[in-house]
Amino acid sequence: MRRSLFSSGMLTAITYASLAIPVMATDHELATGERLAAVLRAGRSVISNHQTLINDESIGEKDLSGQRVVEEALDLYAERKGQTIDTENLNALERQLFEAQIEAMREIVDEHQELIDAEGIGFKGFIPAVFARLVNERFAEKVGDLANTKVTAPVDIVRNRKATPDEWERNVLESKFLATDWERGKPFFEEVEKNGKPAFRMLIPEYYSASCLSCHGQPKGEVDVTGYPKEGGAEGDLAGAISITLFR
Ligand code: HEC
Repeated sequence: MRRSLFSSGMLTAITYASLAIPVMATDHELATGERLAAVLRAGRSVISNHQTLINDESIGEKDLSGQRVVEEALDLYAERKGQTIDTENLNALERQLFEAQIEAMREIVDEHQELIDAEGIGFKGFIPAVFARLVNERFAEKVGDLANTKVTAPVDIVRNRKATPDEWERNVLESKFLATDWERGKPFFEEVEKNGKPAFRMLIPEYYSASCLSCHGQPKGEVDVTGYPKEGGAEGDLAGAISITLFR
């Protein structure tokens, strides 16, 4: 598989010496993986920023369109990264993936306008985790033969079974991210076969912050507002990971 990195003059290979196992990945793949994860996170944050509005039973029309969420997500991405996404500088594949993800976000929010605008219903279940899962599923419908995005979690705390880690994800979560000496926040990536196809896979750890604990915190087992039992998590605990696959 590694040969393919060098067989194309288009691709430049870089080595990440800091990883436990030396891994070769193209700079394009790394950048694409990081971009997909960061845009997904930005989108989730936008939903989170508007959670009080979304949950407000006294307001009907909330003016939270797909277009608005996309624009705010890209603004937030730019604020966090210190630069906007310059689509002119993306290659054809990168642009296709970027546009598919943005389109997925826009569609998911637009398709939930009736729910978001429902008067007389407070908590509607339209939360960042659900939004992200729906966006990831839509992204797969559009470009699943090229790439996948997913949010997963250690098996003992997975809520939605669709988020269940596959063998590779489970192994990285357990042997790396849950290891006491794993550098906080450090992603892991590797060239590995998925569904019989060579792929670049990347896992980015996520941790609970105080705002997550109303649902994922203490007391363990108590049912949260979404109907799931709380995990008993604490601030800083590993919550899960964003999983990116780029097929080669
Ligand atoms: C309002 C309650 C609530 C809050 C607050 C919340 N979550 Fe969740 N979380 C959920 C629900 C419900 C799901 C399952 C969503 C689905 O159906 O896919 C979920 C799913 C997840 C998943 C995906 C894996 C799985 O178990 O399905 C991760 C990772 C996660 N949450 C992390 C976080 C983090 C980190 C925060 C804080 C930044 C947070 N959550 C805040 C309710 C919440």
